[in-house]
Amino acid sequence: MNLIIVENDQELGQKTGDLILNKIKANKNIVLGLATGSSPITTYKYIIEKTNQENIDWSNVRTFNLDEYKGLEPTHEQSYRYFMNQNLFDHVNIDKNNTLVPSGSVKDNEKAKEYDKLIEKAGGIDLQLLGIGINGHIGFNEPGSSFDSLTSVVDLTDLTIEANSRFFENKNDVPTKAISMGLKSIMKAKEIVLIAFGKNKAEAIKHLVEGPVDVQWPCSVLLNHNNVTVIVDKEAASMLNS
Ligand code: GLP
Repeated sequence: MNLIIVENDQELGQKTGDLILNKIKANKNIVLGLATGSSPITTYKYIIEKTNQENIDWSNVRTFNLDEYKGLEPTHEQSYRYFMNQNLFDHVNIDKNNTLVPSGSVKDNEKAKEYDKLIEKAGGIDLQLLGIGINGHIGFNEPGSSFDSLTSVVDLTDLTIEANSRFFENKNDVPTKAISMGLKSIMKAKEIVLIAFGKNKAEAIKHLVEGPVDVQWPCSVLLNHNNVTVIVDKEAASMLNS
């Protein structure tokens, strides 16, 4: 695991943005796995800026998002499809048909798993960007999720509902279920970059970097992957030994 500690969220965005853009420049047909939440916002801002400055071509890039709230329409302001359009896709020359986000209206796990087939058909994810929950969730794979899970409908924990309620008018508006790529789906990516900033992520980052591998800390599954870069600010790194 490659660990990079930066000063702040701005530097996090630059480092992560450069890493992603360099991959796009090297492979115009890249398949990216993308994340939502507050963590990637500075990264996407930086990516948009650089893309415009350097005329970086996204026309053949394909993307798969990690997750979506169950029951939210793509037009809902808190849906992850809406977030991605607003924070990235509307500002680069990507073909929206090549941007996939799991459907919030999926009925059952048989349907949900079709997302993994689509990823496979695209040749697999070359580079997966991840955020991390306070409880160590990645995607919406909450503590206790099977390491063998594929894309499925999942229940959100109270902690996650509480943490994400800051984006909604009130806590009761936060969906209690989501559709998320599974831990196995995520582990299939050829390369993974996980980003985090802030003190409230420090405990999860400690479990991610120092282990042990434990289903109660879903992020720790990444210790079994051979190409992971973790980029965090000083606060998120503050509980690490040494
Ligand atoms: C959300 C998302 C995750 C995200 C995480 C952290 O619930 N499902 O994909 O990485 O929680 O969110 P944030 O970056 O806003 O702290």
